[in-house]
Amino acid sequence: MSRLSKVVFGIDLNKIDFLQINDLYKLKPVSSKFAFAWVKKYPKIALDTTDPKIIAQHLSHEKMKYYDEVCDCFAIVFSNNGTEEIAGLFVSNLSDWDSYYFRYIGILPQHRGNHLQVMIMQRLHEFLGKYGIQKIRAHVKPENFTSLKNSARAGLKKIGITNTPTGPLIEIANYPESIQPKGVKHEKEIC
Ligand SMILES: CC(C)(COP(=O)(O)OP(=O)(O)OC[C@H]1O[C@@H](n2cnc3c(N)ncnc32)[C@H](O)[C@@H]1OP(=O)(O)O)[C@@H](O)C(=O)NCCC(=O)NCCS
Repeated sequence: MSRLSKVVFGIDLNKIDFLQINDLYKLKPVSSKFAFAWVKKYPKIALDTTDPKIIAQHLSHEKMKYYDEVCDCFAIVFSNNGTEEIAGLFVSNLSDWDSYYFRYIGILPQHRGNHLQVMIMQRLHEFLGKYGIQKIRAHVKPENFTSLKNSARAGLKKIGITNTPTGPLIEIANYPESIQPKGVKHEKEIC
């Protein structure tokens, strides 16, 4: 469990009630080590790649430490007749004192179609509101129609485009695109 949520808000994710998503699925806090092992096991789902170089980069020591300290990692657990299996992974983090970042969700193909992404986003948003955290942000690849549609259903709409070294990402949030304040010079004049 990340130190950040605990230090800033005293949130103990092991003791909260939003973890049960429905009768069959729940979120279970896991270590970043577990999260990275899952990513390694299902690289196609987690990274959309099987390139060993990209996977190795994904598992760097620094990245692991960052996840340890900053990110809240959850396994999406499917329970049926007393047996449990991991259906997916959800990773998020505090990005400010009043905002939260939905970093990643991946669900195994056999568990898709149950609206888990929408339910998890809604539950977490509701839960964070209790701590005064109202702003939610995320990035999604432009071609990821399912994730964009699900995010919109959970109340996150496009607020802009972020260019990254691996391509553009749609920036989505649950607050409207900010309006350029009066008096700010146009980009062309300052660049
Ligand atoms: C994005 C993702 C998490 C959504 O999973 P989910 O919550 O199970 O998705 P949904 O339940 O909303 O299903 C998506 C759509 O496919 C349909 N569907 C039905 N059965 C399905 C199945 N077995 N597999 C996939 N989709 C199915 C759903 O009905 C839904 O259509 P609708 O929006 O018209 O109702 C999942 O597709 C995934 O893990 N993708 C790979 C990783 C990724 O892209 N992550 C997000 C970026 S960070």
